[in-house]
Amino acid sequence: MASADDTSSKASDRRHLAVVTPAPKELRDEPSEQPASGGEQQPKFSARELNAWFGAQHVLENITLDIASDEVTAIIGPSGCGKSTFIRCLNRMHELEPDARVSGEVLFDGETIYAPTVDPTLLRRRIGMVFQRANPFPAMSIRDNVLAGRRLTGRLRRGEADEIVETALREAALWSEVDYRLGHSSAGLSGGQQQRLCIARALAMQPEVLLMDEPCAALDPVATARLEDLIHSLKGNYTIVIVTHNMQQAARVSSQTAFFLDGALVEYQETDRLFTSPEDPRTEDYLTGKFG
Ligand SMILES: Nc1ncnc2c1ncn2[C@@H]1O[C@H](COP(=O)(O)OP(=O)(O)OP(=O)(O)O)[C@@H](O)[C@H]1O
Ligand SMILES: [Mg+2]
Repeated sequence: MASADDTSSKASDRRHLAVVTPAPKELRDEPSEQPASGGEQQPKFSARELNAWFGAQHVLENITLDIASDEVTAIIGPSGCGKSTFIRCLNRMHELEPDARVSGEVLFDGETIYAPTVDPTLLRRRIGMVFQRANPFPAMSIRDNVLAGRRLTGRLRRGEADEIVETALREAALWSEVDYRLGHSSAGLSGGQQQRLCIARALAMQPEVLLMDEPCAALDPVATARLEDLIHSLKGNYTIVIVTHNMQQAARVSSQTAFFLDGALVEYQETDRLFTSPEDPRTEDYLTGKFG
């Protein structure tokens, strides 16, 4: 579930990892393999030969790709291919599972996230996560839900807390629907509203990145459209990585799309190109419904 630690930090407030050592020079200047690239600028993330295991099960194999800053990147692929595992490696949530292991490298703003000196809790504040099922805390008010993560980072003055709540709810396109009932329980919100509340909770941490794992899976088409509008409005200020089973959604919201299959990255392209002229026949087979 999305605890405070799952949330992150902001594009306009670029900080360095407080306790991170710089990536080894060779990892930045001389990659052992040319990464699949999401753009020309310095990527937000660079995965290099990333492998992940659950016990003996090897679930990600040598994933090398760059994720562009302040854009939306979609991850698609059949169930079980490793999409969730991949994004959970980007904020070191994978390692919270028993018997989970990774090898390889993930650079975040050019700095390795797996160095022993990196504090994963601080990292997760900068790289927020939103899950398939909205998971607000039902015993808490809407206001307290938004502040749940922030309160773990220190005491807030009343005025400061009010401002954080309003800003995050406005950014999450929920303010006008809840401003008159901030003290009410989050349990009284619709599914789409609860999902936007979880996004507000993540945004209140001022993240730089939002990892979204099938955020619309439990939503109806109207709520899905609203969430896609929200993703469009956040793009440019946040780096967004979205896992989706909905091909139309990937095509609508993302600028880059990565297709995973059996733990491997098959193809990574500009979204328009991947959907109109995929290079790998397996991508085409997946897009045309031949498997998955
Ligand atoms: N907590 C876990 N413990 C053990 N194995 C796991 C765990 N989570 C996932 N796996 C296994 O890792 C592999 C990749 O799973 P992952 O959840 O990353 O797939 P996915 O592409 O997100 O699938 P879906 O589209 O169904 O969400 C699968 O074989 C899955 O069974
Ligand atoms: Mg998944």
